[in-house]
Amino acid sequence: MKKLMAVMLFTALVLFLMVPSLSWADDAAASYKAKCAVCHGPDGHGKGAVPSLVSDKVKKAPDAEVEDFIANGGPAKKATHAFASKGVDAKAMVTYIRSLK
Ligand code: HEC
Repeated sequence: MKKLMAVMLFTALVLFLMVPSLSWADDAAASYKAKCAVCHGPDGHGKGAVPSLVSDKVKKAPDAEVEDFIANGGPAKKATHAFASKGVDAKAMVTYIRSLK
């Protein structure tokens, strides 16, 4: 009986922890569609002058660097990518980009 209680508590805890992280993933996906897909494409492959977000370059870049590019426009502070001031969670966006194939 005690064991069953423990299993139930554990399951409840896991569900509780999963719900916010799932909605947060949805947020990044929705935000990507609304704010990035126009240029980088729905699956991040880019086109023309717009670089792919699933390139080896981006894959090898540290999270902090990609995050800075999205939030502040990177070292050159590109205004087009100052998304921190446009309501984008750059950290969640990096995780989302990493999930694209
Ligand atoms: C207006 C078109 C446009 C939009 C919208 C846009 N990007 Fe970009 N993005 C570019 C271009 C062009 C570059 C090329 C880099 C540069 O400007 O130096 C780039 C570069 C990048 C890079 C660096 C890639 C590399 O190879 O170093 C990342 C990461 C990135 N964008 C992520 C995003 C994310 C995430 C969003 C949405 C929040 C977004 N971009 C929205 C056009 C866009």
